Amino acid sequence: MVEPGVENALPQRTWAGGHEVISGMGALQALQQELVGQGGSPRSLLLCDTHTRAVCLPELLLHVPVLRTAPVLEVEPGEACKDLLMCKQLWHALAENGADRHARLVVLGGGALTDLGGFVAATYMRGIAATYVPTTLMGMVDAAIGGKTAIDLGGTKNLIGVFSDPRGVYVHIPFLRTLPQRHVRSGLAEMLKHGLVCDATHWEEVRRADPNDMDALAPLIARSAAIKAQVVTGDPRENSGRKALNFGHTIGHALEAYALQEPEQSLLHGEAVAIGMVCEAWLSVQAGLLPAAMLPWVLEPLLEDYPAFHWPAAHDDRLLMLMRNDKKNKDGDLRFALLRAVGEAVVDVPMTPQAVRSALAYYRTHTTNAS
Ligand SMILES: NC(=O)c1ccc[n+]([C@@H]2O[C@H](COP(=O)([O-])OP(=O)(O)OC[C@H]3O[C@@H](n4cnc5c(N)ncnc54)[C@H](O)[C@@H]3O)[C@@H](O)[C@H]2O)c1
Ligand SMILES: [Zn+2]
Repeated sequence: MVEPGVENALPQRTWAGGHEVISGMGALQALQQELVGQGGSPRSLLLCDTHTRAVCLPELLLHVPVLRTAPVLEVEPGEACKDLLMCKQLWHALAENGADRHARLVVLGGGALTDLGGFVAATYMRGIAATYVPTTLMGMVDAAIGGKTAIDLGGTKNLIGVFSDPRGVYVHIPFLRTLPQRHVRSGLAEMLKHGLVCDATHWEEVRRADPNDMDALAPLIARSAAIKAQVVTGDPRENSGRKALNFGHTIGHALEAYALQEPEQSLLHGEAVAIGMVCEAWLSVQAGLLPAAMLPWVLEPLLEDYPAFHWPAAHDDRLLMLMRNDKKNKDGDLRFALLRAVGEAVVDVPMTPQAVRSALAYYRTHTTNAS
């Protein structure tokens, strides 16, 4: 059933550098109106993964009936879909379904799917329109916003990609009702990051939030999405200020890629970023930026609310190799976005491999003692 009053509700519209984020009551009705205005379903194709097709597509089609006749392209869920072979299959599927330059790909899914779908759309026929309907917390507050698309290559995260803005990002929070708790926590890690790099009040609110209470989370989701949109608007191509959002990601991406290579290990993006933030907060202290007295306060939710991840010290070299592929590096140096205070980041801080090894050891000691 359509919720009462939703037909007339006005969604909130926020500018994010090169596209709008349309959120709140009436977001999906706004998408329906936009698609009808553009000629509707004949030109739209849907991209889902197995889960979002089962649990989110019926609700999307309820609110956006113009998409009911759109062909549905489906991929396997998770990080593994961000792969060149998958792109090839999707480019073929677009061609087989008659997608021309005026086609639009509507992506219904989490960050993996919007990264993949955005890249496929940006490269098919030199670029067709993409519209994102994020269905995970990670997607709503971060991945769908800001026009970064990417796939992984040879075990390195996001190595191949382009900046390409979607036509719009439509945020419908009720999709989160079916999202597993572990993925909610993963998205919360990026919300904590938004607070740490930009907004101390937001940090306090997110760390105290109950991840089971979606009503209480809703305004915090809106705030996090607004922070991401604001930072991206100030620096759409990541030449300066946007790099702050990479806090936790240099080490986090390396751990995420490492876990992908180890079949028995499983680490979600937000979980990897939480560990990355522990290590990089410690580096912030070593670099003389963050006062040491702040460290326990910063680390508390990151260590308490996320599972400990174990890897042998002998594998630190592999992690360093993975970090060398990081796009933030310059002239062979490892560059980090670090914290000067809760709510304030410093970008492009060079760090030696030895300091990074010590940061990894710091995490290992901390979690080994705790568990
Ligand atoms: N482009 C960017 O700026 C950016 C920013 C942050 C993260 N990312 C990328 O995002 C990816 C992680 O995104 P994610 O955490 O959303 O993962 P995901 O897209 O893999 O989704 C997580 C899982 O949840 C399932 N799912 C999605 N919506 C659901 C729902 N409503 N109910 C039940 N199940 C649902 C999916 O099928 C999948 O199994 C990583 O690849 C990361 O690199 C990109
Ligand atoms: Zn991230």
